[in-house]
Amino acid sequence: MLTSPQNSPMNINVANPANPSPSLPWMPPDQARPINLNKFLIFPFIDGIISQMFSNNQIFAAPLAGVTDRPFRRMVRLFSPDAPLVTEMISCHSLVGAHKNCLRNFDNYAIEGNVGAQIFGADVNLMADAARILQDAGAKWIDINMGCPVPKVATRAGAGAHLMRDHRLAGQIMNAVVHAVQIPVSIKTRLGWDDEHRDWRDLINVAADCGVKFAALHGRTRAQLYLGHAELPDVSDCPIPIIANGDIKTAGDLVLPEKLGFSGAMIGRALMGRPWLISQMHGGNAPDNIGEIVLQHLEYALEYYGEKTAVPMFRKHAAWYSAGMKNSSDFRIKVNQIESADALKVAIRDFWSII
Ligand SMILES: Cc1cc2nc3c(=O)[nH]c(=O)nc-3n(C[C@H](O)[C@H](O)[C@H](O)COP(=O)(O)O)c2cc1C
Repeated sequence: MLTSPQNSPMNINVANPANPSPSLPWMPPDQARPINLNKFLIFPFIDGIISQMFSNNQIFAAPLAGVTDRPFRRMVRLFSPDAPLVTEMISCHSLVGAHKNCLRNFDNYAIEGNVGAQIFGADVNLMADAARILQDAGAKWIDINMGCPVPKVATRAGAGAHLMRDHRLAGQIMNAVVHAVQIPVSIKTRLGWDDEHRDWRDLINVAADCGVKFAALHGRTRAQLYLGHAELPDVSDCPIPIIANGDIKTAGDLVLPEKLGFSGAMIGRALMGRPWLISQMHGGNAPDNIGEIVLQHLEYALEYYGEKTAVPMFRKHAAWYSAGMKNSSDFRIKVNQIESADALKVAIRDFWSII
């Protein structure tokens, strides 16, 4: 649920749900109705922290490298205090080596609430060590990346989507990680490597045997990358809860996964420029002061990265927040030339007419 303005570090005004904000064209009014999430989510086989986590909020924020960093997660939290959020993928090598240039290696998840930390790698021992470090840093669960198609990860490092081709190694990693930590372990994977190898069900069975608590399934193969539409299979007979992922953008998009036996949904790209979307899909209101929200996000980014890094990094967020609005391309061009935080704040205030 949306944080109340009193509890929120910023004053977020909310629009009347009966009259959705005109700045939210992606949410047709007929799809803005909340669905019956109690019916959607039945967890007969899970226990402890997981069931509590899901009963509070069953729509996850997906891991998005370069997007779901600490400042972005803080933004999602403003609207969805209990939503399960997943970090950007973190390399087990950089984490165990405590690489100083990678700020996220030092995040304190204990203050972030319901956050799962995603690791990637192909080294069994390093993956277990990385999971321990993240558990100590306060992560509520560990997610293992078994779907990233990027060649640097899946081909050269033998990690991510490569693990869909090597279930033996995948099993060794899952086993080691499950035994290394006391918190739950999940995996995030795809339908398979390509059309000839749609063997996600086998990998889910291996995961269940290893003690993995749940899995997120992106309805594409590795070969599809992000092309075409995600197609979700029937998962009703899977031994662990499966979270639906791929092209889910509105509350209406939750209906099919529910019918197919999924236990929750995970939202990725639709969150870009809309950190309130999960709250909205749970029936919350859409904000009508987007400019204030953009300024708050910028403040969090400045606090985390410092001005030199935050200002260029924020350009993509400014573009997503303004997408589809009048004069947004002029705004993007302007923002792309700005180097200082003060100038960026002025541009944001001008664009959203904040006095
Ligand atoms: C920019 C970007 C970064 C991503 N980074 C990760 C990542 O770090 N770990 C991961 O498991 N998936 C990653 N993904 C995949 C998404 O989590 C998700 O599976 C995919 O975008 C499909 O969901 P969507 O249609 O809701 O976006 C990334 C996708 C994008 C577009």
